[in-house]
Amino acid sequence: MSETNPARKVAVVTGAARGIGAATAARLARDGFAVAVFDLDEAACASTVEIIEKDGGRALAVGCDVSDPEQAEAGVAEVVAELGAPAVLVNNAGIIRDNLIFKMTPQEFDAVIGVHLRGAFLMAKACQKHMVDAKWGRIINMSSAAALGNRGQSNYSSAKAGLQALTKTLAIELGPFGVTSNCVAPGFIATEMTAATAERMGITFEEFTGRYATSIPVRRVGAPEDIAQAVSYFAREEAGFVSGQVLYVAGGPKG
Ligand code: NAI
Repeated sequence: MSETNPARKVAVVTGAARGIGAATAARLARDGFAVAVFDLDEAACASTVEIIEKDGGRALAVGCDVSDPEQAEAGVAEVVAELGAPAVLVNNAGIIRDNLIFKMTPQEFDAVIGVHLRGAFLMAKACQKHMVDAKWGRIINMSSAAALGNRGQSNYSSAKAGLQALTKTLAIELGPFGVTSNCVAPGFIATEMTAATAERMGITFEEFTGRYATSIPVRRVGAPEDIAQAVSYFAREEAGFVSGQVLYVAGGPKG
């Protein structure tokens, strides 16, 4: 096996207990990575780990609040001890606390920035040293079409735009060490996060996705696997000359 063979590499996916993160973890496992499944609650990671193991892959559940510096460091140390040094990091963990600005509290603003942006920074900081040592790494940050601005999401939009800037800065700083950094920016994806939005709006998820789909050029909402395949691309060996980019995966043009 060559040093760059993905089969010998380890990927960390945050927020991987469900949704886009779970699909991404499963996809990277199929691509040959041993996958560390990070989420707030270790027990909640069990279903993702089970899916990967049933498919013949290797996975490790790690309970970690990515917005906490000590937990991020400890989580990555656990990965190094159990699976080996992380070569791929997918910063996917996220929350929403939607409100119009006149109602949004500073706590709602900080909580969202804390998980998406500070969490991505902390995880990248903890993982990059291993990537730099190995002279190979892939950091993939989950942005959003909301980075372009979205009503009721001044916290989330700011975090997702901030992630694009973080991505470009990491690409510049870490490129000399064989580490690329890119963003996937999903449009509407059917997950528990968007289901919760439908519930808040007082409509069924079917009604919500149906309405949304009419505004999307390909006339459907996205599935977690649509995003997982884009992450898979950025994680590959042959994507090594692609860095600092934002790929909108939204069923039509964005950006
Ligand atoms: P989800 O809500 O289904 O899953 C998010 C996961 O992150 C959950 O398992 C949650 O427990 C975990 N998480 C939350 N806070 C955490 C923390 N502090 N530390 C570790 N894990 C934490 O969300 P979904 O839809 O799968 O979204 C995944 C990512 O994709 C998020 O960053 C989201 O903002 C982004 N995204 C989602 C879109 C969508 O339409 N669903 C569109 C654009 C971006």
